Amino acid sequence: MSDRKILVTSALPYANGPIHLGHLVEYIQTDIWVRFQKQRGNLCYYVCADDTHGTPIMLRADREGISPEQLIAQVWKEHLADFTEFGVAFDNYHSTHSEENKAYSTLIYERLRDAGHISSRSITQAFDPVKNMFLSDRFIKGECPKCGALDQYGDSCEACGATYSPTELKNAVSAISGAKPIAKDSVHYFFDLANFSEMLRDWTHAGHLQPEVRNKLAEWLDGGLQQWDISRDAPYFGFEIPDAPGKYFYVWLDAPIGYMASFKNLCDKQGLDFNEFWSKNSDAELYHFIGKDIIYFHALFWPAMLSGAHFRTPSAIFAHGFLTVNGEKMSKSRGTFIKARTYLEHLNPEYLRYYFAAKLSAGVDDLDLNFDDFSQRVNSDLVGKVVNIASRCSGFIAKRFDNQLSEQCAEPALFAEFVAANTQIAELYEAREFGKAMREIMALADKANQYIDEKKPWLIAKEEGKEAELHEVCSMGLNLFRLLAVYLKPVLPVLAGNAESFLNIPSQAWPVDVSPLLSHAINEFKPLMTRVEADKIEAIVTASKENLEKTVEPELPQVKQCEPIADTIEFEDFAKLDLRIARIIKAEHVEGADKLLQLTVDIGDETRNIFAGIKSAYQPEDLEGKLTLVIANLAPRKMRFGISEGMVLAAGPGGKDIWVLTPDEGAQPGMRVK
Ligand code: 2FM
Ligand code: ZN
Repeated sequence: MSDRKILVTSALPYANGPIHLGHLVEYIQTDIWVRFQKQRGNLCYYVCADDTHGTPIMLRADREGISPEQLIAQVWKEHLADFTEFGVAFDNYHSTHSEENKAYSTLIYERLRDAGHISSRSITQAFDPVKNMFLSDRFIKGECPKCGALDQYGDSCEACGATYSPTELKNAVSAISGAKPIAKDSVHYFFDLANFSEMLRDWTHAGHLQPEVRNKLAEWLDGGLQQWDISRDAPYFGFEIPDAPGKYFYVWLDAPIGYMASFKNLCDKQGLDFNEFWSKNSDAELYHFIGKDIIYFHALFWPAMLSGAHFRTPSAIFAHGFLTVNGEKMSKSRGTFIKARTYLEHLNPEYLRYYFAAKLSAGVDDLDLNFDDFSQRVNSDLVGKVVNIASRCSGFIAKRFDNQLSEQCAEPALFAEFVAANTQIAELYEAREFGKAMREIMALADKANQYIDEKKPWLIAKEEGKEAELHEVCSMGLNLFRLLAVYLKPVLPVLAGNAESFLNIPSQAWPVDVSPLLSHAINEFKPLMTRVEADKIEAIVTASKENLEKTVEPELPQVKQCEPIADTIEFEDFAKLDLRIARIIKAEHVEGADKLLQLTVDIGDETRNIFAGIKSAYQPEDLEGKLTLVIANLAPRKMRFGISEGMVLAAGPGGKDIWVLTPDEGAQPGMRVK
């Protein structure tokens, strides 16, 4: 169909934390686009890798008592498993800590150096005398010089928004050891970005960027480009700079080169030609999908590095906005900082793929995941409209026509209209206007349902001598369903694959020119998608709150979209809690709840009804008679299963290991705890 050659990347996730729903916006967006290109018959490769270098990874490995190599190997497996289960189908998932990346980082650096784009000079920085390491701004904490707020980072104050240099912080300490930093000199290497001002000015106006990104870049370019510090001193987990022992490439130098490295690794595995995609005169297309926070790196540093090192520059950078949940920034304490794994434990990943697709556009606006809207859209669009067509028609085809479709197409014009829609839908996918594409597809689904509603096969089925009509109407319904499935295939590969098995057809290419399935044997219909259940969403939020307790760890400066780990409370807040020993009088299962038990507890002067998420650890009968700790003055909360009049406090990492008190610990119901 087409001879386009396309290489696509998503930003490389840091190997210091798990994949969460915020990340998935980008990987799902990219994956949909790549699947669409492949379905169109284009030669398209999608590569990615873990971004493994830098101080936070080194420190985390240190804390966990393992080597950075062990840490990144473990995280690599987890990341890839998460992506795979969300249907994100990379052609290669590599690592920046790889031979290929070392080779290309060295090559690019040497070419830039030899062309006079690298300079070095001594700079003064904060140094941790206990850990014997230089401290970046994010690893220095102290009092804000403007407003006096405690515990602020070395570059900016979260309380008043002031920005400053770390030397201005009062009572500064190293966030790693707590020691008072000293000032120390060291030689650093710089990339002279200003040498590329003209090249970047041209490049940013040559159609490679979204309009809002181009405007941002114009501002940066007008402000003048600074030298970029590309070296870090030992100890640092990364690649040593070839001609500078003890100096390492800054993580952001070798991260984008990781795109090349991952592709090179794929080329070696599959015998592809690397130069066909990366040489200066390449006719292949190169696209980077990224979050809007890393535009500077991708639209300034990266094209400059590539051009200075005689490689081709990207065809386009596609930036997207951030994810908010229920209208707010993802929050650990609200349980909306949801890990990919937590979601996968409860819900079908294709729900989220569809929801994100329905909300994505080609712009950089933030995207909101609203739980009510999520359930409503999936249930009404996918289950109520699309899958419903197949389930409405397949029963008759199975029972009355031995799973054989009719010889005739009942409505050739309607079928042709569905096929003709492929042009418009393809344009929307190509332009990353997925929300609009989903609306077009759902408009077709409405038409298909309308056709069936008008024909009323359930009535025809009861009439004598209308066998042929019934056969044709239901076959028509299934032929329309087939086209809906092929249009949704980039977004819902599993559903579309199951639809293909049901319809007994091979993997469907983009339907530029297809005919209806006539006199065709299909397979038994199996439900293709079930409705989103509200308690599953509740379970995800609960589990995400529980994760928070398990994963409190020192700051991770490279994690984005992340709140400070846990908000602290003042002593006055703590003093408000009425904590009491309670005896569990009765414990029962709650119909339809995965995690909850319903407890009747004696708190000394009254009994209370409390729902507690401890089902994974206890059989109800084992709880009766046990003591536990409750917050007695929590305002009653209306839950799905009834009113909860307090909160049970239990300890443990979760799963089977959650403990309440046993009666032999000397406590009595009603005892106050403080
Ligand atoms: O912002 C991030 O999460 C970085 N790890 C992205 C790197 S993208 C590329 F340059 F490698
Ligand atoms: Zn301040």
